[in-house]
Amino acid sequence: MDLGIKGRKAIVCASSKGLGKGCAIALAEAGCDLVVNGRNAETLAATAQEIRDRFGVQVIEVVGNVSDPAVQKALLAACPNPDILVNNNGGPPFRPLRELDRQKILEGVTNNMVTPIELVSAVIDGMAERGFGRIVNITSLSVYVPISGLDLSSGARAGLTSFLAGVARTVADKNVTINNMLPGKLDTDRLRGPHEPGSVEDPEAGAARRARLSAEIPAKRLGTPEEFGQICAFLCSVHAGYLTGQNIPVDGGLYVSAF
Ligand SMILES: NC(=O)c1ccc[n+]([C@@H]2O[C@H](COP(=O)([O-])OP(=O)(O)OC[C@H]3O[C@@H](n4cnc5c(N)ncnc54)[C@H](OP(=O)(O)O)[C@@H]3O)[C@@H](O)[C@H]2O)c1
Repeated sequence: MDLGIKGRKAIVCASSKGLGKGCAIALAEAGCDLVVNGRNAETLAATAQEIRDRFGVQVIEVVGNVSDPAVQKALLAACPNPDILVNNNGGPPFRPLRELDRQKILEGVTNNMVTPIELVSAVIDGMAERGFGRIVNITSLSVYVPISGLDLSSGARAGLTSFLAGVARTVADKNVTINNMLPGKLDTDRLRGPHEPGSVEDPEAGAARRARLSAEIPAKRLGTPEEFGQICAFLCSVHAGYLTGQNIPVDGGLYVSAF
């Protein structure tokens, strides 16, 4: 399907690996020029080059923590008039309630709620004026199904969801949409749990972990960043202009609900 977004400009936050990278690849495949982002310059450069080589689109790298206002400024300087914004960030580490202090709570809320709101705020008026905008926030299935120990992640993302649910309705008539994608269990580094950056998981342990997680999922497998990215690209397409303010679980049926 022609997504109708060839030549559009997209900022994809936290996109050097995992789900963000999956979204960047699918948007590049649809012909979008990209700004990609991540803290590790080497990983980001490798991803940017891979995308240029595969799809021939323009890819600008912005290295740094997306929650840092200076990095947000750099993202917007690299792409002052984005047509597409994919909000993504690292999630907070697993931490039970009693191990959270005020500072850690504020950090989590900043990363997973305030940061995406700041970026939405920076781009939304321009999108509305130009009559086209697609904003996709990568949140988590934990917004629907709490995971003890990831309460900060769930809470901050639920806050983001409610906040933008109202905002989405204010720009729907300008062909600007805001939707959330809720990953269930997708096969990325994040799902491997705590590990040293750059470490490679023992293949046997990895297979056992995947089998254990897959057994609980109706699809009987983990999702891939590639299929996640394709859904994101569709949400950013010309065809999805009438779909806004929605939460889309990408979870192989894990979230059990008739509605
Ligand atoms: N995978 C799942 O099944 C799943 C399920 C529920 C929710 N989620 C959420 O979805 C999001 C993406 O997860 P993932 O599985 O794709 O994780 P991942 O494989 O660990 O990839 C995270 C990406 O974000 C970048 N990143 C992390 N923190 C950043 C920051 N502060 N500023 C800029 N870039 C940053 C990382 O690069 P650097 O480390 O170099 O910065 C990397 O490119 C996370 O918020 C995660 O909690 C994932």
